[in-house]
Amino acid sequence: MRNHWSGRLGFILAAVGSAVGLGNIWKFPYITGMNGGGAFVLVYLVAILACGLPILMAEFIVGRHAQKDVVGSFRELTPQSAFWKHLGWLNLAASFIILSYYGVVAGWTLDYLFKALCGAFAGQEPEAIAGMFGALVSDPVRQLISLTLFMGLCLLAVIGGIKDGIERWNKVLMPTLFVLLIVMAGYALTTSGATAGLKFMLYPDFSKLTINGVLEAIGHSFFTLSLAMGAMITYASYMDKKEPIYPVSIRIAFLDTLVAIIAGLAIFPIVFSVGMEPGAGPGLIFKTLPQVFATIPMGSILAVLFFILLAFAALSSAISLLEVLTAFMIDEKKFNRRKATIWMTIAVYLTGIPSALSYSLLAQVKPIKNMEILDSLDYLASNFMLPIGGLLIAIYAGHILEKKISRAEICEDGRSFLLIFNIWYFTIRYIAPVAVLLVFLTKIGIIKL
Ligand code: TRP
Repeated sequence: MRNHWSGRLGFILAAVGSAVGLGNIWKFPYITGMNGGGAFVLVYLVAILACGLPILMAEFIVGRHAQKDVVGSFRELTPQSAFWKHLGWLNLAASFIILSYYGVVAGWTLDYLFKALCGAFAGQEPEAIAGMFGALVSDPVRQLISLTLFMGLCLLAVIGGIKDGIERWNKVLMPTLFVLLIVMAGYALTTSGATAGLKFMLYPDFSKLTINGVLEAIGHSFFTLSLAMGAMITYASYMDKKEPIYPVSIRIAFLDTLVAIIAGLAIFPIVFSVGMEPGAGPGLIFKTLPQVFATIPMGSILAVLFFILLAFAALSSAISLLEVLTAFMIDEKKFNRRKATIWMTIAVYLTGIPSALSYSLLAQVKPIKNMEILDSLDYLASNFMLPIGGLLIAIYAGHILEKKISRAEICEDGRSFLLIFNIWYFTIRYIAPVAVLLVFLTKIGIIKL
């Protein structure tokens, strides 16, 4: 008998825990900054509704119906098709790559937690705080220590299994993070950069939007909802048949988007109040948020709290990626949970080492478009693997999987959610795949604007 979540709340929190992570707090603000602000935010919201939410529902349908790991799920549902049977493998490969560099960024949050514990931010000037980031990423030893610590934490959490490990942590930490972010956004909005920050995030200046930005927004809608990597398929395989898929999905998508927007509201006003560049790249949150802690009352305590929570948000997301790999080893290779977790953690850890050295020993290695290793892997995963994986899942759920299976999963008793099912079915058949495909083909130059 498959281990299940202890109920709806447990499942929602775990899925939200997977969705809400560095993608919302680290990545969303920095890619918004690099893509010119408001117009990007708008495209991202459309992408969540037109692609992210329908594909999230598709993954829940697949995972819950099959009750297997990613590879097993596709094989179980379409055993006769040689192509679709293998879709799970692409998902598996991508979750491996993402986890390898995700652990490095998560390591940065641990290092910042350590700095916060030492009171390193108190009374520092903005330049000094911004300089701490450069000093951290160019130090190979500190990078390796923090990656090792983070992967160790992942290992401990996944070994514990579903109910005892993953769920218990999420229940307390997610809501606390949410409250703290609101407090920080509230403070940021009283600073001198509040108007400029709000304008940057909310005013859509379409002249700043490029096709790369649109693809990035679609890729990010998958990244932030943990899609196209088997994470939600795997989690849904532990989901009870009684849970209604639509209400659960919409809550997850809503909460995830809300966290990203609040993170943006906490960051951009600070960026403008200290005269920083919004397009500063992957270091953005690490260079800005500590400035809040340097100036507000009880800043040192809040800094500790914030980085603890951010590290846990990263952990609950990383856990979901590791769980994809672990579930695969358990279901397909008949490893026990302990052995599966240990081997997968070691493999991901070793793969993460080059990313950890991206800005120090290996700074000269620039595999894609003159970007360092970590940035290149993120580019590859977010702009290629996730959109392609998402596209395939949309085609799978809309055109390959029997309609009666998806209808039964969405409308349990045959009547409720019929309208929702019809809207979903149309979107997943036509809108989501066409949107992803068009943007993707334009980006790689096959369609010319
Ligand atoms: N969604 C997480 C975030 O926003 C990252 C993540 C966890 C993820 N699991 C995933 C991304 C699976 C892609 C696929 O930080």
